[in-house]
Amino acid sequence: MLAGKRILLIIGGGIAAFKALDVIRRLRDQGAIVTPVLTRAGQEFVTPLSASALAAQKVYTDLFDLTDEAEMGHIELSRASDLVVVVPATADLMAKMANGHADDLASTLLMATDKRVLIAPAMNVRMWDHPATRRNAETLRGDGVLFAGPVEGAMACGEFGPGRMAEPEKIVAAIRDALANGPLKGRHVLVTSGPTHEPIDPVRYIANRSSGAQGGAIARALSALGAEVSFVTGPASAPRPEGVRVTEVETAEQMLNAVTASLPADAAVFAAAVADWRMETQQTGKIKKTAAGDVPALSLTENPDILAHVAHLNDMRPRLVVGFAAETDDVVAHATAKRARKGCDWIVANDVSPETGIMGGTENAVTLITEAGAEAWPRMSKDQVAARLAGKIAEALA
Ligand code: C5P
Repeated sequence: MLAGKRILLIIGGGIAAFKALDVIRRLRDQGAIVTPVLTRAGQEFVTPLSASALAAQKVYTDLFDLTDEAEMGHIELSRASDLVVVVPATADLMAKMANGHADDLASTLLMATDKRVLIAPAMNVRMWDHPATRRNAETLRGDGVLFAGPVEGAMACGEFGPGRMAEPEKIVAAIRDALANGPLKGRHVLVTSGPTHEPIDPVRYIANRSSGAQGGAIARALSALGAEVSFVTGPASAPRPEGVRVTEVETAEQMLNAVTASLPADAAVFAAAVADWRMETQQTGKIKKTAAGDVPALSLTENPDILAHVAHLNDMRPRLVVGFAAETDDVVAHATAKRARKGCDWIVANDVSPETGIMGGTENAVTLITEAGAEAWPRMSKDQVAARLAGKIAEALA
């Protein structure tokens, strides 16, 4: 299944473009989220309306559509997917890709993406056999581009030979393979996310502003690289990642139990904003206001530190333990000290001062703290932070 996998589908301008609609339908049947992009020539064969209707998503066509730039820039669009697929890849599009052209939306997305690219070439047999196309195909393979087809067969132009586009079911199978064979294939990664809620009484609780956006994005990015992900989340507002094993909890103690039950894992990422304290004693009834106006004294006790607990396990410690540090001042110094104190391998530190807009926002500016020192990453979307972190985790576990 492709549940929750996000595919950016570029439709090039060839007679086989109509089959891209069948590819969209099949991908959606398997649970994938497909964002279509039509080249100018692609629009001669398939209308944006039919692609959009089948994908149930907005279709992108123009690099200079300013509304889209406001909504989502081309860089963001190129990276917000798990895989970029080109159906059909014409001789012209392959030439552009091989030579690094970026003069329209499709070619710019292909240049800007940090995801793997799979192409389904389709062209006349002589065009496929042309030395220029042979060179371009060679270059693209060397760049890590994956190929589905072409196959040998009858062509729309009446000729016969290699250059015919692979059938939609074969393209979908290649997409599945590409997504299943990422560098984290066979690895189990645990991710905690969201806030925790600590009940004061049956109707009130202690909480924090964590949205769970960063944790969810990390789970998706790890899953996109082929990891089996266990996602333990508190009551977060962000949508749950699909295609991962989700355990919903409310309190820190429940989170600790769910985390322990999810071990062993090859790596664990603790992105949850766990409440530091809970009520010392469980209140079974609602605390009432008194006529005298007495204010209740809330007696708190410390919650278990889930990250420190897992980082100090003997047999069950994941090979790589990653913590987060949300700080408002002296970020690197505090996070470096936290790395040592908690016993984790890496700390992803960020400045959550209100003026940064990071807590609850869509962007993040983090510093990765490892044994080797501090590495400041530029401000980028939480999806991009997640993709970069997932890539580093894959390298560390390789
Ligand atoms: O100590 P502090 O809350 O700043 O540490 C943050 C890191 O520790 C995060 O990775 C968070 O998920 C983790 N943590 C935890 N259990 C707690 C408190 C924090 O796992 N009780």
